[in-house]
Amino acid sequence: MQYKGIIFDLDGVICSTDQYHFEAWKALADELGIPFDTRDNDHLRGVSRMESLNIVLEKSKTQYSQSEKEYMAEEKNRIYRRLLCQMGPQDLSEEVRTTLDTLRAKGLKLAIGSSSKNAPFILERIGLGTYFDAISDGNGITHSKPDPEVFLKAANMLGLRPELCLVVEDAHAGVEAARAGGFNCAGLGAAAEDARTTWKLKTFADLRDICEAE
Ligand code: BG6
Ligand code: MG
Repeated sequence: MQYKGIIFDLDGVICSTDQYHFEAWKALADELGIPFDTRDNDHLRGVSRMESLNIVLEKSKTQYSQSEKEYMAEEKNRIYRRLLCQMGPQDLSEEVRTTLDTLRAKGLKLAIGSSSKNAPFILERIGLGTYFDAISDGNGITHSKPDPEVFLKAANMLGLRPELCLVVEDAHAGVEAARAGGFNCAGLGAAAEDARTTWKLKTFADLRDICEAE
């Protein structure tokens, strides 16, 4: 087997919190009178909260100060956290749970590589608070995806070189980050269409075949 570790993005890969990010940004954009749809939302996948806000505000005619932007980013996070509070172990799909267990049983080390500062809270809510061998998230990095920092940190925590780890992503920014860090990358959803991915996944469970084939 080529891979010794797998580094998973969280939002849109392990669970569907990408949908809650969209709802929270949409609520903020509506308040500000800024057009925002799912295609706009795709540009926010993988990038940090403040960078996401700057992308949302590109369609605004108003110039906002840094302190106004900080307030808006906090407001989006308040809305998002309210949505996250509804989550529980039922929001971890059977497919993801059994696939993770299968990969672990093959001897692979499993890590999270997420730009989100809410990652520990989400993992706790879905019952995976202590599941992963390492968690590298938005709280421990200076540069968000497409910078490879979050994945390099995860690999380092696992004690593995990038070429021994597979990154699983749903975002173009995440695929770019993985490749820049020297990782192979499996793409789900929008990322499955990205030419830079090594593997195109139709479903999360396809990971079992990839690790089988190695
Ligand atoms: C990424 C999401 O996982 O985390 C982005 O794909 C989000 O959409 C980023 O902006 C930061 O998340 P948070 O929870 O710290 O605002
Ligand atoms: Mg994602």
